[in-house]
Amino acid sequence: MQVTMIGAGYVGLVSGACFADFGHDVCCVDLDPGKIDRLHAGVMPIFEPGLADLVAKNVKAGRLTFTTDIAEGLAKAEAVFIAVGTPSRRGDGHADLSYVHAAAQDIAKQLTRYTVIVTKSTVPVGTGDEVERLIRAANPDAEFAVVSNPEFLREGAAIEDFKRPDRIVIGTEDARAVAVMTELYRPLFLNRSPLLFTARRTAELIKYAANAFLATKITFINEIADLCEAVGADVQDVSRGIGLDNRIGSKFLHAGPGYGGSCFPKDTLALVKTAQDFGVPVRIVETVAAVNDTRKRAMARKVVAAAGGEVRGKTIAILGLTFKPNTDDMRDSPAIAIIQALQDAGAVIRAYDPEGTEQAKLVLKDVHYAQDAYDAAQGAEVAVLVTEWDAFRALDLDRLKTVMAHPALVDLRNVYRPEEVRARGFTYASVGR
Ligand code: NAI
Repeated sequence: MQVTMIGAGYVGLVSGACFADFGHDVCCVDLDPGKIDRLHAGVMPIFEPGLADLVAKNVKAGRLTFTTDIAEGLAKAEAVFIAVGTPSRRGDGHADLSYVHAAAQDIAKQLTRYTVIVTKSTVPVGTGDEVERLIRAANPDAEFAVVSNPEFLREGAAIEDFKRPDRIVIGTEDARAVAVMTELYRPLFLNRSPLLFTARRTAELIKYAANAFLATKITFINEIADLCEAVGADVQDVSRGIGLDNRIGSKFLHAGPGYGGSCFPKDTLALVKTAQDFGVPVRIVETVAAVNDTRKRAMARKVVAAAGGEVRGKTIAILGLTFKPNTDDMRDSPAIAIIQALQDAGAVIRAYDPEGTEQAKLVLKDVHYAQDAYDAAQGAEVAVLVTEWDAFRALDLDRLKTVMAHPALVDLRNVYRPEEVRARGFTYASVGR
């Protein structure tokens, strides 16, 4: 099939490369000429394991192309995916749909035959109706269907998630669109990934409900972790003890510095706003968002305590900046709030991240970026493990101790065993243990 992706970001580029790998002809369109130039040169605009090889293989096979020209991108399209950003709107927390609406207007002008327009971006309930209205208004004779097909991939494991999803959700009641979407996803269907057809509004809500539920699980175990610290229990054992119950499940029960990233913070907020608009407030999700918000800066207090109650003029080493390992994505990373809180308290920050430094430079000021964990720890009073990259899982603690001004480790991901670190002469703090 002929597929067009509008937006070649984390979702558009990964989905486009995977659809091409299934054998479809895919053209990725992006407004950003720098991104398209890099893709033409074989340079990935994002860090995602396996992506460079997958893109190269499909470009070579002639199934994957890139352009900034929407007319060229849509010339042969049977299905057009909208995979542009839907960030929080400044001021009110609603999803900013301006990119989605602009993409819809661009598509409308190019439609010459029956086309399925698929919103892959995470969009509030009713957005499909609005996209349909915009296209109809701009091109009254166009033959098209608007389908909701939310994406559930995780950065860092995006290709695997796209190719082996737990489920594919498709929101449409248009019979021709059902046939097109079934054909597009046929390789996954044959892999027995369940294809769930629903009404369009239901599909839109499924994405928000899924993210809000996962954010709730994380926030729940984070609060239990705080309680563990107060009563002298171990949150990792509590997680295991409850997670072995199949009704609960063991995933997303790792206590830490609070959720971040490009999805959970903005999606929980957008769900709260939608629910308020409809007069049906989702109080649990409101609380989850509020609790998570305060948690990130609260983590800085652990660091201050490990530094003896004062960080003014002291060097703090930050190990890991991205919101999770195996991505370069810094959007809403907990590291940002933690570093800013420490800087507000007068700390000097040295930081190292295996892939996120370039993105971090765009959001953090006055940070010295180091070459590796030991370089970051030079002269530091406290080293703070913020993101659990593999590079930080087996640190040479003796070497770390020799470069630090004072051996203290705050492990916000519970990577190390407290007794092991303390036996090496470190002051050690973690989360919920
Ligand atoms: P991104 O910011 O990485 O990529 C968006 C791309 O769209 C940018 O390259 C931008 O230049 C381009 N763009 C914007 N307007 C355009 C237009 N009119 N024509 C052509 N290109 C245009 O965003 P990301 O992370 O890929 O997210 C996209 C959507 O997918 C969002 O709604 C997000 O919530 C959702 N999502 C993201 C996931 C993730 O892990 N990043 C996972 C699941 C869903």
